[in-house]
Amino acid sequence: MKVGIFFVALCLGSAYSDMAGECDMAGFYLELGCKAVPGTGNATCPDYFTCPDLHPDPKMCYYRGVAYADGSTIPQTLINNPCSQACRCRVSAESRFECAAVDCVEVFDGDLQQCVNTYDLDSCCSTGNVCGEAKGKGLQISIINSSHCNFSIAGLKTCEVDGKTYREGESFEPKDTHKSCICTGEWNGTLDADYCRDINCGIEIHYQEKLSENCAPVFIGSKRGCPISFSCPSPTSRVVRGNNLRGINSQCLFGNVTLTVGDEVTVSESCTKCICDVPPFVTCTMKNACNE
Ligand SMILES: *[C@@H]1O[C@H](CO)[C@@H](O)[C@H](O)[C@H]1NC(C)=O
Ligand SMILES: *[C@@H]1O[C@H](CO)[C@@H](O)[C@H](O)[C@H]1NC(C)=O
Ligand SMILES: *[C@@H]1O[C@H](CO)[C@@H](O)[C@H](O)[C@H]1NC(C)=O
Ligand SMILES: *[C@@H]1O[C@H](CO)[C@@H](O)[C@H](O)[C@H]1NC(C)=O
Ligand SMILES: *[C@@H]1O[C@H](CO)[C@@H](O)[C@H](O)[C@H]1NC(C)=O
Repeated sequence: MKVGIFFVALCLGSAYSDMAGECDMAGFYLELGCKAVPGTGNATCPDYFTCPDLHPDPKMCYYRGVAYADGSTIPQTLINNPCSQACRCRVSAESRFECAAVDCVEVFDGDLQQCVNTYDLDSCCSTGNVCGEAKGKGLQISIINSSHCNFSIAGLKTCEVDGKTYREGESFEPKDTHKSCICTGEWNGTLDADYCRDINCGIEIHYQEKLSENCAPVFIGSKRGCPISFSCPSPTSRVVRGNNLRGINSQCLFGNVTLTVGDEVTVSESCTKCICDVPPFVTCTMKNACNE
């Protein structure tokens, strides 16, 4: 039932979040400030994107169109990601951002307890945890951090999303939404800002130098989530020409090589397949189960 409500809400959502959740690469490009070029015919997803010059000056760092000189720090209020703190531009052979490490210490105590970490929308690490242990008829509640633990697991409200059950305080990412949500007692199955926020991958922060070298983002599974890394051209990379079945008049750039939609490029990482699919970036998918 909740799932039903959820999908109705999705249909009423904004065009922006729909696209990021439902179209491959849209979340990635929109985060970089690229503009969608609508698909032809009845296509609901863009054929390609046009991006601003993401790195005009090699001696500067760029975040959301603003240039940062060596040693300057992105104001925290502009960073839409609680896991990136005090990010400073560092220019040497290449320019990149270096951020303070956010260490999340998530301690569970004891073997017999069942614990869940609880989260806030605005914090990187879990803000507490709730533990409970069912014993006989009664419920024995073990409190690990009394400042955070008010409830037992069994007493928590739950949210049912995409066939999984989450407890109050747990975070989840509804399928095809590019959103991160917190299960709360009040959650009504929508993606309302009270419970959910857009996922921000921190692409420019983590991969500044990869963007400037026209490397390709690597995804595991869907190309609607965040990239796990970038793959750059190597001396052994070679292009395998494909068929531009959709007749898309835009090209991808991989290093200094230009590819047409449908072309593949071989990379040195194992189990990784890279293709020009939604220009201008070549995009790679890494197989989830890879034994090499
Ligand atoms: C587009 O959608 C309309 C109505 O659903 C359909 O009649 C038409 O054949 C579709 N065109 C293409 C190219 O799929
Ligand atoms: C409990 O949480 C508070 C607030 O996060 C923290 O300051 C304190 O150190 C924690 N206590 C223990 C025993 O983990
Ligand atoms: C625990 O419950 C008390 C009283 O209901 C409340 O004031 C406090 O904010 C709660 N703490 C947490 C971490 O939910
Ligand atoms: C869900 O909750 C939000 C915020 O509390 C509210 O604005 C919205 O109207 C609710 N939607 C439904 C379908 O109940
Ligand atoms: C492209 O890049 C490769 C490796 O960086 C370099 O060897 C080659 O000369 C470049 N080709 C052009 C046309 O710039």
